[in-house]
Amino acid sequence: MLTVLYQAWPIFIQARVRAGIQRTRRARIGSPRTMMDRSMSASSSKPLSRVIPDIARRLALRFGHHFMPARALNMNFLARENLWNDYYEMAESGIDVQWDRDVWPAIQDFNFTSVLELAPGAGRNTQKLLKIAKRMCLVEYKKYALEICEKRFGDVYNGVPITYIVNNGRDLRSVHNHSITTIYCYDSAVHFDRSVLEDYIHEFSRVMTPGANGFVHHSTLGDKANPDIRRNPHWRSNMTKQLFVQYCKDAKLTVLKQIDIPWYGIVDCATVFTKPI
Ligand SMILES: C[S@@+](CC[C@H](N)C(=O)[O-])C[C@H]1O[C@@H](n2cnc3c(N)ncnc32)[C@H](O)[C@@H]1O
Repeated sequence: MLTVLYQAWPIFIQARVRAGIQRTRRARIGSPRTMMDRSMSASSSKPLSRVIPDIARRLALRFGHHFMPARALNMNFLARENLWNDYYEMAESGIDVQWDRDVWPAIQDFNFTSVLELAPGAGRNTQKLLKIAKRMCLVEYKKYALEICEKRFGDVYNGVPITYIVNNGRDLRSVHNHSITTIYCYDSAVHFDRSVLEDYIHEFSRVMTPGANGFVHHSTLGDKANPDIRRNPHWRSNMTKQLFVQYCKDAKLTVLKQIDIPWYGIVDCATVFTKPI
């Protein structure tokens, strides 16, 4: 498969470039243009520097599971523009039940002075957290999601100042050491590759104040998971309960409890952890 891809790649690029040149020539001599022609020349007007990453992304999404490491495949897929827009709308109405059943009982004793929500999407959990937090920091891989949050909540919401950070999908580098009292992530890390979660857990440890707590909802599929998350139930990743405990231990965090989270036919986990004083 890899060989075929390597061989096909230059031919594919050359064909795109050739098609572009031919279309430009046709346009110059004023040939009649069909609807298809018009839409194709719209895309060929993109500079090559934008066309190539587009093609690479499409090829990776189509064939990536044959040759890309699980982490790259995962991050590449989750980087798709507007991937979750329909989901955000659909999921919004479910948050009241999920909050009362899964979330609040597990986090009610946390210190909400300074809350970092990882991967807030369109902000359905944020809306809840803003009722109890003193300061909020929203960290998201995708700008399109944070723009929705920014539109929804502004810089200050009900007196709570909000910081918005678009990150690289694996670290919290613009968050200060020992500045966060609650880490929160619900219905997002369930999709993250285990190695991405390992990176984040080390970052949680760095940014948490001593005594701070974290609540992260994650997958339990482990090695049963296909590296292409689209092939797994609810796009769950290869994380497990045991690995979460191990990564916390490595990052000098203590796991307090792990809660089953039933999710439409499967059972996820929410791990609650703390940074020792
Ligand atoms: C299913 S949506 C859930 C959003 C929100 N938590 C909710 O409950 O509606 C998953 C979100 O995770 C974000 N995401 C995906 N991979 C990420 C990563 N590696 N780091 C941070 N955010 C990520 C996506 O952009 C998306 O907004």
